[in-house]
Amino acid sequence: MMRQDLFDLALTVRERAHAPYSHFSVGAALVTEAGSVHAGCNVENGAFPEGWCAETSAIAHMVGAALPGPHRRIAEISVVADRIDGRVVTPCGGCRQRLAEFGGPNTLVHASDPDGNGQTFRLADLLPAAFVLDGK
Ligand code: THU
Repeated sequence: MMRQDLFDLALTVRERAHAPYSHFSVGAALVTEAGSVHAGCNVENGAFPEGWCAETSAIAHMVGAALPGPHRRIAEISVVADRIDGRVVTPCGGCRQRLAEFGGPNTLVHASDPDGNGQTFRLADLLPAAFVLDGK
């Protein structure tokens, strides 16, 4: 079951996306194991490869807010974007790896459209056999 507050926040932050090149706005909101909540949107750049994803923004806010511990472990993340060819948007490969750095196999990834309909995945299903250095 997706947490309504995470979806609401992701939807709100998505409005602030800086996506003048792709015109594809994404919002993300996460809750940590300690219950703190952080959000982010995608931030594109005229030098295209320099843009970053909504999930990355949310993770950066989380990391800047707390030292290592339960406030830096991701329990759930909600990602909101328009559907593409009828399919909900799931995190890109790089963001799956970033989620694995601060989450675990049971981290929940809720991928939904702006109406709140979508799918929930375990991170282990999005990134099987993940590479994670034990630097936590
Ligand atoms: N994007 C995200 O922010 N998150 C995703 O899960 C998928 C893609 C962004 C990157 C880029 O700014 C735009 O969506 C189009 O790819």
